[in-house]
Amino acid sequence: MSVLITGGAGFIGANFVLDWVANTDEKIINLDKLTYAGNMASLASLQNNPQHVFVQGDIGDDKLLPKLLAEHQPRAVLNFAAESHVDRSIHGPGDFIETNIVGTFRLLESVRGYWQALASEAQQQFRFLHVSTDEVYGSLSPQDPAFSENNKYEPNSPYSASKAASDHLVRAWHHTYGLPVLTTNCSNNYGPLHFPEKLIPLMIVNALAGKPLPVYGDGMQVRDWLYVKDHCSAIRRVLEGGQLGETYNVGGWNEKPNIEIVNTVCALLDEMRPRSDGQSYATQITYVKDRPGHDRRYAIDARKLEKELGWKPAETFETGIRKTVAWYLDNAEWVANVQSGAYREWVTKQYKA
Ligand code: NAD
Ligand code: DAU
Repeated sequence: MSVLITGGAGFIGANFVLDWVANTDEKIINLDKLTYAGNMASLASLQNNPQHVFVQGDIGDDKLLPKLLAEHQPRAVLNFAAESHVDRSIHGPGDFIETNIVGTFRLLESVRGYWQALASEAQQQFRFLHVSTDEVYGSLSPQDPAFSENNKYEPNSPYSASKAASDHLVRAWHHTYGLPVLTTNCSNNYGPLHFPEKLIPLMIVNALAGKPLPVYGDGMQVRDWLYVKDHCSAIRRVLEGGQLGETYNVGGWNEKPNIEIVNTVCALLDEMRPRSDGQSYATQITYVKDRPGHDRRYAIDARKLEKELGWKPAETFETGIRKTVAWYLDNAEWVANVQSGAYREWVTKQYKA
């Protein structure tokens, strides 16, 4: 038995692969294009582990995918691959349309071809799990209830619009072709292996480098934070027990304004790695121009997942953020590789030689 994951060299995908290998004996085939966000250094501990098979490639490659599926006969495909950074989607939406929409379409078609040719029992067991985001639901005002699975889709950024489109495709492939799909819509993740373009890792690495900590606008935008390992456990739970065609919201019940997050990171660094001049890292906070179209608040109502599948996060924000800051302090080499771009040389050496 095996499963195929796409985007398994990214932040959440790499955490998922590492947890999968730690928690199961099942083979995991990892298809990743290795864009700037894919980092094989995150999977260095699996280099000689036959349970993990890495393949560099694009989810939209309709020659490669049928070959890979036929060769490995996975019982499930988990689609993590995406362009994921909102700011990049504002500067250049093209890659987001290409991977998140066209790529998902092509992947669905490859998977449909594979699934339709399976023997009936394997066909019944098969699952396509699509990893999506709470951003598809748009922005909440302070008094609105948290997003439930029944909220209407109101995406506001090129990123969230492309993810919303991919969710619709997945839904349509279920209703029209009967493809056995599951979709998860999760809130903001944080934890180890997070690329330092996103809020929390950027604040940690900038603070340690003595650089400004750029807070957009008034810093009062609210996000609902979930420790990445909890997202991974939710995906495993939905894969095993989710109802076909259903979507499950995943969240940590941890709504916090950005400025509070940044102050918490600074306080933890003050405690664990105090600045040599005795000042707080919070003195590096700098308010900068707001993100265009910036969503004000996200919040996830994760009761369906808890009620139907018994899932709950293991970490509180306090335990998760402490582990995260400690991980960045203990993994200076990983951070330095990302910052220098050296992690990309590995790819050139390994795949282009
Ligand atoms: P990431 O940007 O860290 O990683 C994305 C990975 O996908 C990279 O390894 C990249 O190389 C790969 N990739 C990109 N385009 C590809 C293509 N065309 N073919 C194959 N591989 C490709 O993203 P992440 O933060 O790990 O997010 C993973 C998934 O979870 C995404 O679908 C994202 O929308 C979703 N999500 C993320 C969060 C979050 O807070 N990070 C929250 C909810 C949902
Ligand atoms: O909600 C889930 C989404 O969370 C995922 O679908 C996305 O893939 C993921 O990138 C994340 O999107 P956000 O835009 O919420 O994450 P980001 O870390 O970019 O920003 C978090 C908040 O912090 C947001 O309100 C913008 C703000 N911010 C971000 C950066 C990078 C700053 O104030 N300063 C910054 O430098």
